[in-house]
Amino acid sequence: MSSLPRGTSAQTIAAPQTEAAARAADLRAQLQHHAQRYYVQDAPEIPDAEYDRLFLELQTIESAHPELRSADSPTQRVIGQVLDGFAPVRHAVPMLSIRTETDTEDSGAQAFDARVRRELELADDAPSVQYSAELKFDGLAINLRYEQGLLVQAATRGDGETGEDVTQNIRTIAQIPRRLRGCSAPVLEVRGEVYMRRDDFERLNERQREHGDKTFVNPRNAAAGAVRQLDPGVAAQRPLSFFAYGLGQIQGWDQPATHSATLDALDAMGLPVCTDRAVCQGAAGLIRFHRSMGDKRDALPFDIDGVVYKLNAVALQQRLGFVTREPRWAVAHKYPAQEQITQLERIEIQVGRTGKLTPVAKLAPVFVGGTTVSNATLHNLFELRRKRVRVGDQVIVRRAGDVIPEVVGRWIGTAVERSGYVPNFKMPWSCPACGSAVLRGRGEVNHRCTGGLFCPAQRKQAILHFASRRAMDIEGLGDKRVDQLVDGDLIRTLPELYNLGLSTLAALDRMGDKSADNLVAGLAKSRHTTLPRFLYALGIRHVGEATAKELTRHFGSLDRVMDASNEDLLAVPDVGPVVAQSIRAFFDQPHNREVVEQLRAAGIRWTEGEAASAAPQTLAGLTLVLTGTLPTLGRDQAKALIEAAGGKVAGSVSKKTHLVVAGEEAGAKLDKARELGLSVLDEAGLRALLGGLPADPP
Ligand code: IVH
Repeated sequence: MSSLPRGTSAQTIAAPQTEAAARAADLRAQLQHHAQRYYVQDAPEIPDAEYDRLFLELQTIESAHPELRSADSPTQRVIGQVLDGFAPVRHAVPMLSIRTETDTEDSGAQAFDARVRRELELADDAPSVQYSAELKFDGLAINLRYEQGLLVQAATRGDGETGEDVTQNIRTIAQIPRRLRGCSAPVLEVRGEVYMRRDDFERLNERQREHGDKTFVNPRNAAAGAVRQLDPGVAAQRPLSFFAYGLGQIQGWDQPATHSATLDALDAMGLPVCTDRAVCQGAAGLIRFHRSMGDKRDALPFDIDGVVYKLNAVALQQRLGFVTREPRWAVAHKYPAQEQITQLERIEIQVGRTGKLTPVAKLAPVFVGGTTVSNATLHNLFELRRKRVRVGDQVIVRRAGDVIPEVVGRWIGTAVERSGYVPNFKMPWSCPACGSAVLRGRGEVNHRCTGGLFCPAQRKQAILHFASRRAMDIEGLGDKRVDQLVDGDLIRTLPELYNLGLSTLAALDRMGDKSADNLVAGLAKSRHTTLPRFLYALGIRHVGEATAKELTRHFGSLDRVMDASNEDLLAVPDVGPVVAQSIRAFFDQPHNREVVEQLRAAGIRWTEGEAASAAPQTLAGLTLVLTGTLPTLGRDQAKALIEAAGGKVAGSVSKKTHLVVAGEEAGAKLDKARELGLSVLDEAGLRALLGGLPADPP
């Protein structure tokens, strides 16, 4: 971190009153501007941590000079604003904010416990206080109003008093029940966080990037944007999730005596409640929770920016009450920020295994999301330009979970907005790894090396990907080893890996007999794998693990995948035209089929993995004929389901036919079936045979 406006509290307090007044006014203006960008436009210009710092500085000045505290100060009210286009909703119970403990160490938890004990006037030797500890989800707060158990309204927080009616958009979130289970209280308002999972966010941004559209800075902004989409159709395409964490107005419902029991009750009503929560005793319990969730943070499927501690006993919460905008009985204990500011020192080009050239930012090292980051992706030239980034700029870096750190934007901070943007970076004409020409397809955003397997960058990465844990999981074949093997010309293609002998390997620099043994054993072990892993390992563009699993589930065998037509592929869930085309293009190249054959010849065998368990082989050995239009299943879908269950689909009815599945306007085939006395099923009958597969909701 460098060049941040830093008025330390000590200096500020010592400053003369006029100076403090000027700084407070400046801070207020800055905070108002950034709050507008954050809450209203969903397009922040500074990281949260920076906003928190400015906020804290203003709070510090105001407590040293109470006369400077004005009613409109951001410290005195919940920031936010009702957007035009949504009906305002007056909250029956105000939606307040929560105090933030920015001390990310254990002392943050200790300070909260000490404050609660003081305010409850507990003696030093009184027993420890009980808390409910939860995650602090990074999304936006929503109030769900249920009347007689039915969802009647959903509203954003707005300014805390009045929010926006976003019922239509919230209804697109499948996780939120329309009707509560076992609760018909006249009024039950449930509060919680709408958020976007990281994988959904990555997919959304990937899609935006591919179309050259604006990407979202982080999942929270994407979620906030989606909830406040005026067009529910657009909102529906943005995958959102929800966790309940509290209550608003209640009438006719006996709230349990503790917060943790309240969450259990909400869970029992069918509302999503996060399972990563605990009842903790005293500061020690809070610290344990904070640490264990900190360790787990990267592995969670969604962003959190801290944990929240709440006094567990509702009666004690009521006793402590609220100050201005925050309850005294709760605090958010933060983790290190996932976004930070640092200097972009230069930009290098990385060549990916598919030949994609990615501009990578070389940064002044910065501590972000719990680790020190000095490289971050800039994705592609167009995104870099859209963000108006230049070498030498201060930029915002984001690192969350296992996702590669990325530069999400230029830090505008207090600088003046640039009028004309002159980029100072260009993509190279030739591949930095092999010198082959660099091309960008028409309408494409990515530049690519044309060298293919000839390009050492692609060859190495193809092998590394093949060997990776989630692919063939070849132990002992990491970066360094692949470098040696490829640079030493010992392997050029994937199948050659399996020809490597002990003596060749043991002769490699810094490779002892034991490592050579291990690698040979790792290679041998990898010969037994699953089809989804093998498909994923081939490195077909757009075929990730999930798609590989879907392909296996749908087709059941590699040969069927290799021979599937574009149309067949499109019948697979999650496979759209781009993915289908990519798979087709891959297997259309004789070279790639050859690689597959050579790998088979090298003794690689697989089981169908999940496929076998996903689809019970209820139709094994049976031949079915489809005729007419089925109510919900398309012909390809029905065919695929039958095949996945081990059955065969024939084009015409004969004595060899076992079953006929008939829909609307079935014609001659149905007559023939009746003539032959064959069993005829409708779609429901077919589904029953497939193992009770329910119909998709319309
Ligand atoms: S409780 C009166 N619990 O953090 C207390 N808030 O300023 C109300 N948040 O925007 C908040 N996770 O949406 C609570 N487990 C959690 C939370 C949580 C995230 C958000 C909330 C609000 C902000 C608090």
